[in-house]
Amino acid sequence: MGTAIYKTIKNDNIDVLIDTHTLQSRITELALEITNDYAGQHFILVCILRGGVLFLSDLMRQISIPHHIDFMAVSSYVDGITKSEGRARITMDLLTDIEHMNVILVEDIIDTGHTLKHVLNLLNSRSPKSLRVCTLLDKRIRREVDIEIDYIGFEIPDKFIVGYGLDDIEGYWRNLPYIGVNK
Ligand code: IMP
Ligand code: MG
Repeated sequence: MGTAIYKTIKNDNIDVLIDTHTLQSRITELALEITNDYAGQHFILVCILRGGVLFLSDLMRQISIPHHIDFMAVSSYVDGITKSEGRARITMDLLTDIEHMNVILVEDIIDTGHTLKHVLNLLNSRSPKSLRVCTLLDKRIRREVDIEIDYIGFEIPDKFIVGYGLDDIEGYWRNLPYIGVNK
């Protein structure tokens, strides 16, 4: 931690893009959709660390049917203002064998789509029974690859956002209970 940059400023340079209430009520709707779609089936939520962790925890507690969860981590590199994972790399893999399982991939945000494409290819190679994608945020205007997304929380404009699991370049602001945008 020797060279870490510590934030001493408050979050007063961040505007609220999606407030806590709006966020939570949309997550409740998504959870209800998933509950209805997967009734009577076994499924697993796969969360992409680290950004997806707040979304997963709120989503899963609103899903009223039994399910499993697991985690995987994908490396990102910084390309100027936005972080984009043109070359995604799995840095932590699932513990679960997903063969013959219904899988829902839980993502914080889909930007260019490269990360998701990479993860989907990998998971598909393991022969799940089904594979769907649930993202909280969709920055669709930035998309570079063609991917199908089954559950979308919010479509957002091309702005660099932080909060609710998402960090800035220095790894901060994940703890904000809302989606914010730098002023
Ligand atoms: P993609 O491969 O370009 O779709 O990148 C997706 C990943 O980039 C996300 O999972 C985030 O980790 C990161 N990312 C993209 N846009 C933002 C943003 O506005 N704020 C914070 N992280 C972002
Ligand atoms: Mg992510």
